[in-house]
Parts: sequence; structure tokens; C-alpha cells
Amino acid sequence: MSVTPTDVEHEVTAVDIIVSKGDEKGDITYANPIFFKISGYTQAELLEKPHSIIRHPDMPKIVFKYLWDNIKEGKDVKAFVKNLCKDGGFYWVFAHVRVATNPDGSFRNYVSTRKGMSAAARAIVEPLYKELLAAEESGGMDASLAMLEAFLKENGASLDTFNDAMQKIQNS
Ligand SMILES: Cc1cc2nc3c(=O)[nH]c(=O)nc-3n(C[C@H](O)[C@H](O)[C@H](O)COP(=O)(O)O)c2cc1C
Repeated sequence: MSVTPTDVEHEVTAVDIIVSKGDEKGDITYANPIFFKISGYTQAELLEKPHSIIRHPDMPKIVFKYLWDNIKEGKDVKAFVKNLCKDGGFYWVFAHVRVATNPDGSFRNYVSTRKGMSAAARAIVEPLYKELLAAEESGGMDASLAMLEAFLKENGASLDTFNDAMQKIQNS
């Protein structure tokens, strides 16, 4: 399914919590009604499909690399994400991806809980992602990783404190 992005923004209200769950590969095993409503897809179109169905081309790859490097190790990730809707529109969220385990400690699923992004965060993250994307296009992932690390450093953080840095930006 190929979707052509438009500049139509879909609003995430202050009370919206957009939830989905994924298996080891990131295929969608559950999504809440708000997820279907905002993305414009039906259950049949989304369930068992990869989460990348809502990947927006404005998203730098480095963000997803960071996500997967961490969740595969059982670590939570907080990240800002621009998502693509079925109609080509988009919405920005602040996502918290957790790794859920069974009582015996084995992997259960990945759970993403997404809230609206603050206006202050949007003003910081949108230009940052544009720069990361441009760096990736010209110098690949090494270039965007170096740029991300430099951004974190300027904010008194590092890759190890990425989640705290993102939370601080959301609250700013
Ligand atoms: C629980 C969970 C939720 C995810 N949510 C999103 C999401 O909202 N948007 C998105 O683009 N990718 C999301 N991903 C990441 C995708 O699996 C994928 O890495 C990303 O879309 C990049 O796709 P690509 O690696 O095929 O380029 C999620 C992954 C997991 C495990």
C-alpha cells in the first residue's frame, strides 16, 4: 500500500493516548480505537502488519535504529515520532515504547503508548529531524548518529540518557 504524504495534520488532543502492541518483528498485534481513528486504517488493514505501515518519510532512520537497539535489549525508549495516516496526513506523538514480559520473564510483546507532542518540543524536534534526515541522505547513518550525539551533548545528555533528554524536551 503506497501512501503519498500531504501536509494535512491530524490533531492529537490532550486526552488522546494512542496505543499499539507489537511482536518481536514489530508487527502490530493490538491497537486501541484511537490508533485506528487517527491513522484511518481498519483493524483488518493494520493487524499483523508491520508498524512501518505508518512510517513517515520525514522520520530519520537513526531514531528507529536507536529504538530497536534498545528494545531488543529489554530497555524502554521514549521518542518523538511523526506518523503517516492512510489519507497521507500526519500526526506527531511522544511515544514511550516498553518491553512487556511474561511472569516467567520471557518476552511477551512491545507496547507503545503515544501522547501528543508539546508545542515546545515540536519547535525543537521538527528542525532536528530535518537535519538528521539531510545528514542521512548525504552521509548515511554514521553522519546522523554523529549529529544526534552532538545534539544530545549540547543538551547535557548522551545516548545513555536519551529518554530523560526527550522527556525534558517534551516538558519544556
Ligand atoms: C511497539 C512498537 C511501536 C512502534 N510504533 C511505531 C510508530 O508509531 N511509527 C513508526 O514509524 N514506527 C513505529 N515502530 C517502529 C517500526 O517497527 C519500524 O522500525 C519503523 O517504522 C521504521 O521502519 P523501517 O525500519 O522499515 O524503515 C514501532 C515499533 C514497535 C515495536
